[in-house]
Amino acid sequence: MRIDIITAAPSLLESPFNHSIIQRAKNKGIIEIHIHDLRAYGLGNYKQIDDMQFGGGAGMVLMIEPIAKCIDKLLLERTYDEVIYMTPDAKTLDQTTSNMLSLKENLLILTGHYKGVDQRVREKYITKEISIGDYVLTGGELAAAVLVDSVIRLIPGAIGDETSALTDSFQDNLLSPPVYTRPSNYEGMKVPDILLSGNFPKIEEWRSERAYERTLQIRPDLLDE
Ligand code: 6GU
Repeated sequence: MRIDIITAAPSLLESPFNHSIIQRAKNKGIIEIHIHDLRAYGLGNYKQIDDMQFGGGAGMVLMIEPIAKCIDKLLLERTYDEVIYMTPDAKTLDQTTSNMLSLKENLLILTGHYKGVDQRVREKYITKEISIGDYVLTGGELAAAVLVDSVIRLIPGAIGDETSALTDSFQDNLLSPPVYTRPSNYEGMKVPDILLSGNFPKIEEWRSERAYERTLQIRPDLLDE
């Protein structure tokens, strides 16, 4: 998979993409991530990328021309399965969306900053808009890092344990059951006997029950879906 990201704050994306799982997937050749600094496509001597909004109001808006220059250049090289705009005024990311995106070959992600982008960018180029939750971040960069992480870890070979992504919380719309490791008795706090029993059908049954219980208690909304 190849992911291109257009951003006005490229440094915010360096650290998340040079660590752990994403680094491993890059080294294995499973993914390529290319960051494009919007500033390089800015207008005039000052490389301007944003301006005040028409109609008045606080906050700067990213202009269409620098973004169009950048996207048009990228589109000369390849077509994208999705052109994604990260914005809080969109549908919230969920596991189904991450699963779907993990099957794609080429993704282009645009991250907004300040007040967002000129509406015409969204109309002309964007095929999918994604928010990561009902709260506001300074920019879409951290949200893009969240999206990319959730997608990449689903690509076969990206994480060590092939089965582990399939048993994540949310893959079956349930939260994960509790997990334990050594010691089996920590200052009197004991691991449930069933997990030490070696009876795997019973262990699976216990895990399903705990997962359901936890979901009912913490996220009952997931059970309605
Ligand atoms: Cl995608 N962007 C920003 N700026 N804030 C957010 C978000 C995205 N998702 C949740 N909050």
